[in-house]
Amino acid sequence: MPARVISGKQVAAEIRQALSGRVQALRARGVVPGLGVILVGDDPASHSYVKSKERACQELALHSVVRRMPATAGQHEVIAQVEAFNRDPAIHGILVQLPLPDHIDEQAVILAIRPEKDVDGFHPVNVGNLHIGSRCFIPCTPAGVMELIERSGFELKGTHAVVVGRSNIVGKPVAMLLLSRHATVTMCHSRTRDLPAVTRTADVLVAAVGKAELIKGDWIKPGAVVIDVGVNRLGDRLVGDVDFASASPVAGFITPVPGGVGPMTITMLIKNSIEAAERILG
Ligand SMILES: NC(=O)c1ccc[n+]([C@@H]2O[C@H](COP(=O)([O-])OP(=O)(O)OC[C@H]3O[C@@H](n4cnc5c(N)ncnc54)[C@H](OP(=O)(O)O)[C@@H]3O)[C@@H](O)[C@H]2O)c1
Repeated sequence: MPARVISGKQVAAEIRQALSGRVQALRARGVVPGLGVILVGDDPASHSYVKSKERACQELALHSVVRRMPATAGQHEVIAQVEAFNRDPAIHGILVQLPLPDHIDEQAVILAIRPEKDVDGFHPVNVGNLHIGSRCFIPCTPAGVMELIERSGFELKGTHAVVVGRSNIVGKPVAMLLLSRHATVTMCHSRTRDLPAVTRTADVLVAAVGKAELIKGDWIKPGAVVIDVGVNRLGDRLVGDVDFASASPVAGFITPVPGGVGPMTITMLIKNSIEAAERILG
């Protein structure tokens, strides 16, 4: 039987519906959740992501401010803008669109964000709190991955989850979140020996690699939940890290690319921004 396709588009729409109620409740108490975005340079992909974030804010009636800075902006100027958002009571969440130009130290900029406004969840305080299981902002893509798994109705407790990719923004936080839901977690990376042998043992497989269609159907355990984070251009098509055609007859659940994890990421950013505003009200 072919896998059930988990539509991130549909799940994101359901979550946004629920979030709109939370925005209305905040507005009734005189608070409009605000997101401040800093975009440095001319990277077309970054500009397009920021546009989508602005659109999502508009759709949900959030206040959003985008500060566009030239690629030549100095690190001190970017940090000064972060600090201005830190002080601004109308801005509850701050996002610095990555990557930053090479002459800027990303970690220094992230460190300047007040952790309670760090809606991307990249500040070391939020990263540390995620690891020790304390309240934190969960990075948006990993949070989206977890929502998709949970809404598939799959019970994670006691299962074997394999995460391919160990980046700070996707692989590592996804692994911590799976562990916190009592999965037994294996992390794989570019030096993992015999990757297909490891992925074949996965009840849940999360692919966050950035290599077009790396993971084939015969790398997948029959019935597994397969979450494909990858976004890769293959000719004129966008494809994931999983070869959907060979994987979907084997998997139990699978996310498509596009329309899987992608729509969840911005939705989770909006959710974190709303939560940041709610926390201020207590
Ligand atoms: N949908 C979304 O909203 C969203 C958000 C973020 C990212 N993405 C996509 O997700 C993918 C991963 O993003 P990322 O930022 O995590 O990438 P990244 O920082 O480049 O990390 C890639 C990871 O994959 C591992 N890797 C590379 N080649 C491998 C191979 N042949 N076998 C096993 N592991 C391998 C790397 O191992 P080493 O550590 O050993 O180098 C690294 O840990 C990209 O396609 C990106 O575009 C999508």
